[in-house]
Amino acid sequence: MLAVFLLSFVIGQSYAQTFSDWLNSESQVAQSKLLAAMSQAEAAPGAVIASPSKSKPDYYYHWTRDAAISQHVIVGLYQRSHDNKFKQKILDYIQFSRANQLARTLTDLGEPKFYVDGTPYGLPWGRPQNDGPALRALTLIEFAQLELQQGHRDFVEDHLYKAELPAMTVIKADLEYVSHHWQEPSFDLWEEVQGDHFFTRLVQKAALTKGAQLAQIMNDPAASDWYLRQAQKIDLEEFMPANQDYILTTLRQTAGLQGKNSNLDSAVTLGFIRIPDMFNIIRKVPGTLRILEKTFGELYTINRRFADMAPAIGRYPEDVYDGDTFRAGNPWVISTLAQAESYYRLAQQSSQKNKTLALEYFKRGDDFFKRVQFHANPDGSLSEQISRENGYMVSAVDLTWNYAAFMTALWAREEALK
Ligand code: NOJ
Ligand code: NOJ
Repeated sequence: MLAVFLLSFVIGQSYAQTFSDWLNSESQVAQSKLLAAMSQAEAAPGAVIASPSKSKPDYYYHWTRDAAISQHVIVGLYQRSHDNKFKQKILDYIQFSRANQLARTLTDLGEPKFYVDGTPYGLPWGRPQNDGPALRALTLIEFAQLELQQGHRDFVEDHLYKAELPAMTVIKADLEYVSHHWQEPSFDLWEEVQGDHFFTRLVQKAALTKGAQLAQIMNDPAASDWYLRQAQKIDLEEFMPANQDYILTTLRQTAGLQGKNSNLDSAVTLGFIRIPDMFNIIRKVPGTLRILEKTFGELYTINRRFADMAPAIGRYPEDVYDGDTFRAGNPWVISTLAQAESYYRLAQQSSQKNKTLALEYFKRGDDFFKRVQFHANPDGSLSEQISRENGYMVSAVDLTWNYAAFMTALWAREEALK
C-alpha cells in the first residue's frame, strides 16, 4: 500500500485514481484533445495536427496516416452520438483531404505530410508512404456507409465516391491510387524503412475489399471487380512463414534504415487492431503479442523495475529514436495501447468457443491499459513516448494518435464486455 502511494506520488496523480475512474476521465481528456487537434486557429479547417509540439520534435503537421486514424475515431463518436460537432469535423476533413490529393506533390498521393495550410511538405523525407491513402479511404468508407444508411446517397456521390474516371471524389481517388500502386515498395508507418510492410499491405487489402463493396453500391461494378481482384492479390501469408512464431513486419527492404534484424514490430498489432476481423491473420496474433511482451519486458528498465505489471511496449527492439536524439528508443503509448486493444479483440473473438480464455485475454487487456495509466501525466495528457529509464512521458506532447488509440482500445473493451 505504502509502495503504491509512494509510486503514485512519484509517477503521477493518474495512478492514484481507480482504474475505472481513470478510464472515464481519460475518455473525456482524449475526446477534447482530439477535437483540439482539429481546431487549430492557424490551421485550415480539416487539418489535424500530429502534436502541438513545434520543436524536438516538430510534429506540427497534418500527417495523412495520423489524421486518418484520428478521424476514424471522430466517425465513431459521430456514429455513437449523432452530434453535429463531430460531423462538421468530418466534413472539413473531407474537403482538406481532397485538396491534399489535388496538390502537386513529389510522390502523388503517397506524400506523407502537409503543412497545416495544406501545402505539401516537399522537403527530403521517407516517401512515398502508401499506408496513408488506404487508411484515409478506410475512414471515409465507414463514414460513407453511415451516410448511405441515413439515405444521403447524393451527398456520398458528390463528396465521397462517384463512378467516374479520372476520379474526382476523395475515396475513389484513394482507391485508384491504392489499386495501382500497392505492389510498389514504400516507406513504413515509422517513416524509416522502404520495402513491403505487413501494416501497409493489410490496410491496403482492407481498403480495396471495403472499397469494392462501396463501388458496387455506387453503381461502379467494373471498378468494384478491379478493386476486389487487387485486394485478392495482396498476399499477407508471406509475412507469416511456417517457421516463425510471429508476423514479420517487412519483406524485401529496398532502402532506408538498416539493422532491424528481428523483423519484430508493434506495427503488426497496430494493423491488427485497425482490421480486427478481416483475413486470417488472427492465428498468428497471440504469438506476436507474446514475443513483443517478452522482448520489451526484458529491454526497458521500467519494465524490469515494475515487473509485476504488463510491460510497456516499444516500436521495435532495435529502435533508437527518442523524439530528439538517436541514442535509445523508448516504449510508445500507441504500441502499449495496441497491445490492450488486441487482447480485447481476441477476448471478443474467443468468447463463444472458450470462456476461460476470453476472460484471460480480457484481463490481459486491462493490464496494458493499467500500464499506460501508470505512466500518464496527472492531467491525463499523453506524450508519444515513455522514458525507458524513469517512466515519465517524453517526446511529442499531446500526440493526437494517442488519444485516438485510447478511444479505440476503450471501445474494444466495451464490446468485449458485452
Ligand atoms: C521522424 C519519424 O517520424 C520517426 O518515425 C523516425 O524514427 C525519425 N524521424 C527518425 O528517422
Ligand atoms: C513519427 C511516427 O513514427 C509516425 O508513425 C507518425 O506518423 C509521426 N511521428 C507523426 O505522429
